[in-house]
Amino acid sequence: MLQIVLRFAHVFFGAMWVGMMAFQIFFLGPALADVGADAGKLMAAMVKRKIPVFIPIFALITLVSGFWLFARMSGGNAGALMRTPMGMGFGLGGVVALLAFVIGVVVMRPAMMRSMQLAESRDPAAQAEIQRLRARATVTGNVVTVMLFFTLTAMAVARYL
Ligand code: HEM
Repeated sequence: MLQIVLRFAHVFFGAMWVGMMAFQIFFLGPALADVGADAGKLMAAMVKRKIPVFIPIFALITLVSGFWLFARMSGGNAGALMRTPMGMGFGLGGVVALLAFVIGVVVMRPAMMRSMQLAESRDPAAQAEIQRLRARATVTGNVVTVMLFFTLTAMAVARYL
């Protein structure tokens, strides 16, 4: 039963994490850039719906269930599992997802939140800082999403390596 709960939580929230990040980075971000001045309003509406809270929670559920599944799969010998192609696939994918999470929480999220705060202040002097922070959030968002694609690919094929 625990295995079923862990697998459900892992695959379900993993799909939500990757899917929401990919949507934001490849569709929403460029669409907001097209919209221009009104983009801030939509960003504020997204924050009101707690998107910057939900995504890290989905990510944490995926990570905790993933490392737990890995520990169960290894039967207490993670080193031996890592020496098999399947273990290497799940393990490497897992470590890359963990790094993506850290970059997202330490660099991307604060840059996004700070740029929104500054935009709400309507201080014309803050424009340059807002642009700099948005650029940083976009670049790190792209990096995080590409890393998550790597993990998704590794997870999809690991069992058959
Ligand atoms: C973006 C994050 C992630 C996504 C989208 C994801 C997705 C998936 C999917 C779809 C499966 C089912 C594949 C299969 O059983 O053949 C799976 C299984 C697995 N994942 Fe992940 N995963 C993610 C992160 C992680 C992390 C951080 C770890 C930690 C090591 C991990 C470890 C595992 C393990 C061990 C399995 C096999 C579970 C089992 O059947 O015993 N995953 N993952």
